[in-house]
Amino acid sequence: MSQSGYFADQEDMRELVRLLKQGQMLTETAGGVLPEQDDLRRFHDILDLACGPGEWVMALSKASPLLHIVGVDLSQRMIAYAQSLIPAARNQDVQFQVADLSQGQLAFPDESFDLINARLLLGFMKQDRWPPLLSECFRLLRPGGIMRTTEYLNITSNDPIIQRSDWVALEAWRRAGRAWTSGPETTGFEERMPALLGAAGFVEISSQGFGVNFGTGSPYHEFLLENFAEAHRLSIKFLTQQNLGSEREIEELAHDLLALKNKPSLTASWNFLCLTGKSPERKNSVER
Ligand SMILES: C[S@@+](CC[C@H](N)C(=O)[O-])C[C@H]1O[C@@H](n2cnc3c(N)ncnc32)[C@H](O)[C@@H]1O
Repeated sequence: MSQSGYFADQEDMRELVRLLKQGQMLTETAGGVLPEQDDLRRFHDILDLACGPGEWVMALSKASPLLHIVGVDLSQRMIAYAQSLIPAARNQDVQFQVADLSQGQLAFPDESFDLINARLLLGFMKQDRWPPLLSECFRLLRPGGIMRTTEYLNITSNDPIIQRSDWVALEAWRRAGRAWTSGPETTGFEERMPALLGAAGFVEISSQGFGVNFGTGSPYHEFLLENFAEAHRLSIKFLTQQNLGSEREIEELAHDLLALKNKPSLTASWNFLCLTGKSPERKNSVER
């Protein structure tokens, strides 16, 4: 666990590699970088919060070469890696900067962006950090701009080891004040985030769910079992701090997940929700 409160060490190369591959999978299974936006030509400036190694930013720059895109993340290593991708890109109007989102302040002028993306921030965002961050995003968005946030809800599976693995993750989020639910069924993002977006001033809130199937025989079966095993290993300190088992027990859980590869008739889905809210066209008249 890092000083920042992220569940893993964000400077660890293994976490960078894990996020890069996981990001590619998420972009693909969500239906693309911005699947809900039918006309990207209306956007000029885009911000990606906690951009990790820059997978989403670079995929967007490829999909729409005229955009100016900025990615920010706390990890110096991830930002350095993301910057190394720019010279080979067709659209070089891309910037990556180190920034800490936990204080809810970013060094950009008012109304700098048309869309702000935030995917998988629950790994470090405590519940009480969301309102200041969403207010800051409201400040940074132009009238009519889009706030877009995607988080994981839970995993559904017929396998007790996967159920246990998901319970450990959800319970860790809950004990660390990241998830909103009192029970371990989901992170509670689907219930709480629409109200938080509304309280920050966003309107026309809409949602799109998607799931990544990793049952036996599916394209992400082995990949996600390996991903979760690696995530458990990289978060051993975080999980033991939340009293969710000894280091040895977490290692065993990771090992048991890997042993599920090609187990017959396994069903599993990693479930997500993407929420979008719009900054009002007449932003200054909105009272928050
Ligand atoms: C689960 S990753 C998500 C990366 C990327 N958004 C994606 O979906 O692939 C969370 C990211 O948050 C970053 N992070 C952790 N604490 C942070 C903080 N306080 N401020 C900004 N970024 C932070 C980590 O370095 C990591 O890259």
